[in-house]
This record gives sequence, C-alpha cells and structure tokens, in this order.
Amino acid sequence: MKRVDDFRLRFGKQELVPIVIGGMGVDISNAELALEVARLGGIGHISDAMVQTVSDRHFDTKFVSQKLKQYKHNVASSDKSSVQFNLAVLEEATRNHVRRSMEAKRGDGLIFINCMEKLTMNAPRDTLRMRLNAALDAGIDGITLSAGLHLGSFALIEDHPRFRDAKLGIIVSSSRALGMFLRKNARLQRLPDFIVVEGPLAGGHLGFGLDWAKYDLRSILDEVLAFLKNEHLDIPVIAAGGIFTGGDAAAFLEQGAAAVQVATRFTVTQECGLPDKVKQEYFKASEADIEVNTLSPTGYPMRMLKGSPGIGSGIRPNCEAFGYLLDANGNCAYIDAYNREVALHPKVKKLSVKDKTCLCTHMRNFDIWTCGHYTYRLKDTTRRLPDGEYRLLSAEHVFHDYQFSSGQTIALPD
Ligand SMILES: Cc1cc2nc3c(=O)[nH]c(=O)nc-3n(C[C@H](O)[C@H](O)[C@H](O)COP(=O)(O)O)c2cc1C
Repeated sequence: MKRVDDFRLRFGKQELVPIVIGGMGVDISNAELALEVARLGGIGHISDAMVQTVSDRHFDTKFVSQKLKQYKHNVASSDKSSVQFNLAVLEEATRNHVRRSMEAKRGDGLIFINCMEKLTMNAPRDTLRMRLNAALDAGIDGITLSAGLHLGSFALIEDHPRFRDAKLGIIVSSSRALGMFLRKNARLQRLPDFIVVEGPLAGGHLGFGLDWAKYDLRSILDEVLAFLKNEHLDIPVIAAGGIFTGGDAAAFLEQGAAAVQVATRFTVTQECGLPDKVKQEYFKASEADIEVNTLSPTGYPMRMLKGSPGIGSGIRPNCEAFGYLLDANGNCAYIDAYNREVALHPKVKKLSVKDKTCLCTHMRNFDIWTCGHYTYRLKDTTRRLPDGEYRLLSAEHVFHDYQFSSGQTIALPD
C-alpha cells in the first residue's frame, strides 16, 4: 500500500513532501503553522485576509484604530463608499506579515500566501494589486489565488521582477473555471505553477452552490487532469477538500494529483491561530453540528459550526475599522440585511440579523467557526485528558501522520 512519502511534489529541480496546508484566514493558518510545515519539507500558507488587523496583532502597528479614527464620522451612515483603504498602509501591513514569516523560515519547504479575490476592499483592483505586489516584494515563495475567478490577477503583477520566478497558482472547483483563467491569461505567456482543485468538503468558502453534495473531488480531479492532458499542459494539480487520512492522500496522489492540500486536521494543532477554547469546539463537533449556509456576504456558501457565536448576531457594520468585503461601490450584503432589520425594529436595542453576518468582525474575533466537512472526525485523531478536554496535537505530529500512515490508520499522540 502506497504512502504519501512514496511521492514528491516537483517544482523544477526542487522536491517537496507533497503536503500543502491550505490558507485559513483570518490568521488561522498563521506564521507559526506555516513555518513548521516549511521546516518539515512541505508547503505552508499564511493568509492576507484582514492583514492590517493581523499586523496590529503581531507588530506594534495601530492600523485598525487609525482607520476607524479617520472614518469615525461615517459610522452611522449606510453609505460606505467613502471608506477607502490607504494603499501605503496596506502595503506596510502586508510586508510586515510576509517578512516575519520569510525571515524565520527554516528547512526545505516553502511558504505561500493565500489571496482571496472576494476581499474587494472598496477598490478591488487597486487593493489586490497592492496585496500581490507587496507580498512578492517581501519575498513570499508563492501566491495562491482563491475565492474568485482571478481573471485579471496575473496582469496586476506582470511587471513585478519576481512575476516569472515566484510560484503562482490558483484554486478552482471545475475545469471550466480553469479554462477561463488560462484563456484570459494566455497573452501573458505565464502559466500557473500549480492548480489547486478544491472539492465540496473543504472549509471556508465553497466554489459550489447549495447543491455542493452532488459533486465529488475525485471526479473533478479527473476532469481537470483530462482537461490539462487535452491541452498538452503539464502543471502540477493539488487536490483539496476532505482528505482526512494519509491513506486518503495517497489515493489522490495515485490518481494523478501532484500533492494534497489539507487544512481541517491542522485547526486543532498547537501552532494554529485559533484560540484554544475554539479548538475544543472543533474537537467536540458532531456531524449534525456542521452546516453549509449562505451567511457570508461574499455570496459564496460557507461551511461552519452551527454553534458559531457570530451566527444571528446583529452588530452594527464595522466597515470604518475593517471593510474588507465592501465591493467597488461600497456595498456589502450584511449592511443591507442590517439596515432592513433596523427599519423593521426601530426600537430594538439588540438586533438579530439571521440571513447574513458581519464576516469581518466575526472572523477577526474568531466567532465564525468555519471548518471542513470532516471536522466531526477530529475527536478520533487525539486522546482525551483527565479533565475531559481533548489534547491538542503538534503540527509535526499531524504532518507526519499524513506523510507516513497508510490505509485509514490515524496515528494518535503518545
Ligand atoms: C478554518 C478554515 C479556514 C479556511 N479559510 C480559507 C481561506 O481563508 N481561503 C481559502 O482559500 N481557503 C480557506 N480554507 C480552505 C482550505 O485552505 C483548504 O483548501 C480546505 O479546507 C482543505 O480541505 P480540508 O479542510 O478538508 O482538509 C479554510 C479552511 C478551514 C478549515
């Protein structure tokens, strides 16, 4: 029986353990986790979601309070079009975040950054251009484009000196999306270095509708591999979503994937950025506690624990401090939902908004607990302590379990 360790991911002459830890914003796949994975010879992701908040958390910056101060006069207004990000600040925050990871990197692995197109930040092109260029400036090994079709994203960095040397890839959930991306970027004569194919069992936002259960990763992977063969393209394909054991991973590698991207099992590691008490919620979850809903203002379905404290919360939109989901016209679906409730219940002090959530605020506070479909199996990956808590795992333990276990075996900690 094959194990993941029988395979290697090749980028030119470079050989890596074919395990990628997916980006998990906001600062869930943090620098500590990415560094550990790079040390072990795989690929770790940081995420640039809400990077100004992340910079404040780890450096002595005050970007969030400064932005709030600048736009405080607008807090009660439902028109958020004037609430713009300062691009120089965005650049500094991104550089801080990336540099910290790259300077601390040890070992043969790589660190990539996950950049979601849906973080439209009230000026989609300008902010994305700055995010991507600043990450390249700060020495990131690679960029994974996600949560969007990214038809124009390569063009935003085509003049960067590292455009052809950094590893650039995209997450897709169908060969159709991949075809569109390749066609749109043909003039740049710069193919992606990798393609992540994400199936419907992943965490975070899904590239499927509410009929996600009709799709399966194995078939989509086959479809993408056939598409690439037909186009005579040799690009490593990375399978993602619901790959829970080393045996699952090895099966995808045998099917033709060049690597696997995993995330959920790393949410309960010591290194992961979630607070410890939230990690216990992930361990405790049963299958019935997990849902795919439409609460995200992005319009993409999202998988999360039903007990997430942010669900149903009716807080005032926090765009003056955050505003990462404001579209090019300063709109966000949560603002509309919130204003509707205010109009319906003008006297109520504590509102509840049921159909959308203020994702910026609640992801920042770790109050929306997004997770993969198999979160309910996490309890089978560890031991229980005498006080009833589940024992957190080291990222090294989980990484090695993926790398060396075969079949459906899961190595428990000593
Ligand atoms: C807590 C959590 C947060 C995530 N956040 C993001 C994100 O910010 N951007 C993204 O592209 N994918 C995100 N994902 C998806 C992962 O990067 C990954 O592709 C997927 O979850 C892999 O499947 P698995 O969790 O079943 O192993 C997230 C996943 C989890 C579990």
